[in-house]
Amino acid sequence: MDRRNFLTKSILFSGFSWNFLNKKSIKSGSNEMKITIIYFSATSNTLKIKNVIKNELKEHNVICDELDITSYQNRQSPIDLKPYDAVIFGFPVHARWSPKIAREWLKTLNGNNMRCATFFTYGGFGAYPAHGNLKKVLEERNFVVVASAEFLGAHAFNYGGFNALPDRPNSHDFKVAQEFAHIIKDRFSNNVLKKISDFEKGKWTEEQIDSFQNHRYKTVSQLPTRNGNTCSLCKTCEDECPTKAMDSISGNTDKTKCIVCLRCVANCPDNALSINDLSKKWENKLAEEGKSESTLQEKESKIYL
Ligand SMILES: Cc1cc2nc3c(=O)[nH]c(=O)nc-3n(C[C@H](O)[C@H](O)[C@H](O)COP(=O)(O)O)c2cc1C
Ligand code: SF4
Ligand code: SF4
Repeated sequence: MDRRNFLTKSILFSGFSWNFLNKKSIKSGSNEMKITIIYFSATSNTLKIKNVIKNELKEHNVICDELDITSYQNRQSPIDLKPYDAVIFGFPVHARWSPKIAREWLKTLNGNNMRCATFFTYGGFGAYPAHGNLKKVLEERNFVVVASAEFLGAHAFNYGGFNALPDRPNSHDFKVAQEFAHIIKDRFSNNVLKKISDFEKGKWTEEQIDSFQNHRYKTVSQLPTRNGNTCSLCKTCEDECPTKAMDSISGNTDKTKCIVCLRCVANCPDNALSINDLSKKWENKLAEEGKSESTLQEKESKIYL
């Protein structure tokens, strides 16, 4: 459990104002700041939080672009960050960290001392130590991390029968996302640089965390398949698979490529794809993690400064 200080939504909202006096130079040439949000979202939780942050920034005169790096195709062309004053990175927690394919893609970037903020969505079991590890990756790419946040979201494995936070993110989580937008706008624009505090060094090495990824293949022993059923052959599952693991014609998944993000299952218009029944494993998962459905629900989204 990360014991760093965090601000709850009530503390943040009480003292914050959109007015800031010391503006950093703005690249767009007008008085408006220009930001891009780069995000990965397989089952839409991260996308929902991204939408709230983006709308809040736009309502307060920030020009806000976005780049969705979920699909394989969108990670193939280099991107130019020069037009931007700052970047926001949003990822799901996959086995305690941002998805490895997203981290690999981050290595194509150079921040050139640009300010950035990060946020995660997670299924209630833990976002630690994702923040600190992503901060390290971004600092190695010459970004300056000024803030981070974590938001609760329905666990992707609910598509197989888990019942973790089916109604999250909810209005409380969105409120924290709005507050986060306020804070990062201020931190991006202020002449006085305020960096995020250091995170507690985790008890796991990066290699150990990477090895946790293999647990997903024990839980999801049957990777997404159409199981011989017919469908409209729309190809969405194949086109939007982050790793090119899905073959829409056969309806089968390449086990050497699949990261079990469940994007294909979530997005199939015919509900034709499925994994093994996880409802039998749900009680064991709660017991292993020392949690119950209600203790998961009590968790709140948080901002780290
Ligand atoms: C492969 C995989 C691993 C996951 N690992 C964790 C985890 O370590 N802790 C957690 O609380 N949730 C975990 N989750 C749940 C996701 O973090 C959560 O569903 C997230 O909001 C998904 O974001 P998205 O909808 O934007 O893809 C995992 C989900 C997947 C698919
Ligand atoms: S997304 Fe669903 S309907 Fe479309 S090709 Fe894949 S399995 Fe068939
Ligand atoms: S085939 Fe695997 S990696 Fe591709 S979308 Fe489906 S679950 Fe994700």
